[in-house]
Amino acid sequence: MKSILENRPELARRVAEVAEVAGYLWQKGWAERNGGNITINVTECIDDDVRALPPLSEPIPFGMTLPRLKGCYFFCKGTNRRMRDLARRPMENGAVIRILDDGASYEIVADEPVRPTSELASHLAMHEQMLAAGNGYRAAIHTHPIDLVAMTHNPAFLEKDVLTHLLWSMIPETRAFCPKGLGIVPYAMPSSVELARATIEQLKEYDVVMWEKHGVCAVGPDVMEAFDQIDVLSKSAQIYLTAKSMGFEPTGTTPEQMDELKRAFNL
Ligand code: 13P
Ligand code: ZN
Repeated sequence: MKSILENRPELARRVAEVAEVAGYLWQKGWAERNGGNITINVTECIDDDVRALPPLSEPIPFGMTLPRLKGCYFFCKGTNRRMRDLARRPMENGAVIRILDDGASYEIVADEPVRPTSELASHLAMHEQMLAAGNGYRAAIHTHPIDLVAMTHNPAFLEKDVLTHLLWSMIPETRAFCPKGLGIVPYAMPSSVELARATIEQLKEYDVVMWEKHGVCAVGPDVMEAFDQIDVLSKSAQIYLTAKSMGFEPTGTTPEQMDELKRAFNL
């Protein structure tokens, strides 16, 4: 069977980047079983031949109406598919979908009828918001990093910006490379529209959002940059818990050091 990636080098490059990041998520220990999902907006890689492709599924509603996504195309991890399998065989464990004119349903167009992630509502809502913001962001990742999820089991860390300031203060890079910090979404049922709505509310202010007792979502211009944001936050969380496991409370960088950094990096 001919793949949609054949003779479409830009689309193939972006899907390969998703596969590369899927491998990192598995190696990090953040992607047990089918845990986590990745979607990228590939609309600008789509030509008339793809637009003419017959659907591989019936129209499937995703639970929200997102008018900006009308006619957009996304590559999505399949539901119940493993990240480690997406890493090796992206087109067997993910699919390209087309959003229909109602902005409320999609059909699968290539390569195989792989049903997209159960968190599609959250992912598509994030993409709608990124288009509305006009920031050129095209990637959304949801994953289950052990250290960051563990921190959400402490109610004190769920207060606005407490975790942001703690993680910023562990190592200067986190302040520099995750400049907006991270938002908090109180526990909600996985895959729910309620979770999607709460996520995009936080996304107005942050590029990374914690789902209490579940995982992290990050957005960015591409999938590598979205991954990097989670990676620097996880590094900070590990420094925090390493200090704690040595038996002391880490002091963290001082407010003066933080201000100096803010000025130097124009944050
Ligand atoms: P999917 O396999 O449907 O992508 O679900 C994984 C997950 O992490 C749900 O929150
Ligand atoms: Zn999850």
